[in-house]
Amino acid sequence: VAGAGGGCNDVQWCFSQVKGAIDDDVAEADIISTVEFNHSGELLATGDKGGGKPVAVRPHTRHCLRVLSTNPSSDYLKSLEIEEKINKIRWLPQKNAAQFLLSTNDKTIKLWKISERDKRPEGYNLKEEDGRYRDPNTVTTLRVPVFRPMDLMVEASPRRVFANAHTYHINSISVNSDCETYLSADDLRINLWNLEITDRSFNIVDIKPTNMEELTEVITAAEFHPNQCNTFVYSSSKGTIRLCDMRASALCDQHSKMFEEPEDPNNRSFFSEIISSISDVKFSHSGRYMMTRDYLSVKIWDLNMETRPVETYQVHEYLRSKLCSLYENDCIFDKFECCWNGNDSVVMTGSYNNFFRMFDRGYRQDVTLEASRENSKPRSVLKPRKVCTGGKRKKDEISVDSLDFNKKILHTAWHPLDNIIAVATTNNLYIFQDKLN
Ligand SMILES: *[C@@H]1O[C@H](CO)[C@@H](O)[C@H](O)[C@H]1NC(C)=O
Ligand SMILES: *[C@@H]1O[C@H](CO)[C@@H](O)[C@H](O)[C@H]1NC(C)=O
Ligand SMILES: *[C@@H]1O[C@H](CO)[C@@H](O)[C@H](O)[C@H]1NC(C)=O
Repeated sequence: VAGAGGGCNDVQWCFSQVKGAIDDDVAEADIISTVEFNHSGELLATGDKGGGKPVAVRPHTRHCLRVLSTNPSSDYLKSLEIEEKINKIRWLPQKNAAQFLLSTNDKTIKLWKISERDKRPEGYNLKEEDGRYRDPNTVTTLRVPVFRPMDLMVEASPRRVFANAHTYHINSISVNSDCETYLSADDLRINLWNLEITDRSFNIVDIKPTNMEELTEVITAAEFHPNQCNTFVYSSSKGTIRLCDMRASALCDQHSKMFEEPEDPNNRSFFSEIISSISDVKFSHSGRYMMTRDYLSVKIWDLNMETRPVETYQVHEYLRSKLCSLYENDCIFDKFECCWNGNDSVVMTGSYNNFFRMFDRGYRQDVTLEASRENSKPRSVLKPRKVCTGGKRKKDEISVDSLDFNKKILHTAWHPLDNIIAVATTNNLYIFQDKLN
């Protein structure tokens, strides 16, 4: 009953904004690969698979979701297919008026300064307005450049490059609560960096076997604890999460805790290992819990209990009977992420058919919503969706066989203070908010 409780079913999520092309023909370079609110939620940074540069937007003002930094050479870059994808973005805690974020592609981490401008210089002598240089011989008069007002723009300018420390693909970066260091993780190693030092990092985890044939497990995600600067976790393709304490030794190959759920023998199949691989791990804001996402579920772990999760939420259990076709079309390797709401009471993660799911921990409620252009009229309320599994399909339900596996929501973010969420479909970024907001 709406309004009766306070659980996630009682929030009416309504459409707020959408950014991105309507086009169904998506260029690889335009695929959104990460979304992240800054620590107070006013700015939202996104990265894609081709821009090379994070884009920051202000989702909550009338300057809504303008693509605020444009890189004049990006089309040129795309045509050359230079791989400039962004795998992850993490904001740095704000120390002064300036704002910074880290972004990473497969091999290189960059520090960006994010600044907002509402004036633009005009009337250069040696350049055109679009930045191309003029032939100096054609310059016959001098003019004085002036600042002209323009729409607010958020610009990212590169400040530091942290390169040459990873042999394998970087999957995670995480800023430490000491505000001075961060970690970067690839398939086999985790490195610790000082934010000020670009040419040196310390290897803190190395699971590379001497003989690569013996490799049975890779690192899939890693994150620092939100307030204990000596503690971090990393997850693996075997479904385990290891918690490490940097005070114990310089190389944290010996974990101090290992979280793992014993496999249910009834559920054993050829796909067991693939679907138990963890695609994301996130500490709760409180630091007491962590959440992991595997292919079919979201699990909440209490840091004080290693033997099993304290909560398990089925994201799309109806896919268990479809694993064979999901293996054949490679979807089974999709890496879904997950996120907490501001007070850790609700968790959110994506699914197929542009559906995303919310699980209310206290009220034990869950809801499936859809990000689509069809219900993207301003303030239109999202209707909960239901997937029908066998039996008779009720009106408004969609059958498992009609789900579109090309439409998937891998990345979502929840505003740290408000019921405002960012949901990335392949090449569109949707913002939804609580109707009461
Ligand atoms: C988030 O971004 C806004 C807009 O630039 C800024 O005013 C605010 O201080 C930022 N918050 C944090 C915690 O960095
Ligand atoms: C085994 O499968 C059932 C449903 O088929 C599910 O509810 C249960 O959580 C699964 N067990 C584990 C350990 O994943
Ligand atoms: C958490 O925040 C939501 C709003 O985002 C609110 O409805 C709910 O009551 C809060 N829960 C707790 C336990 O404070």
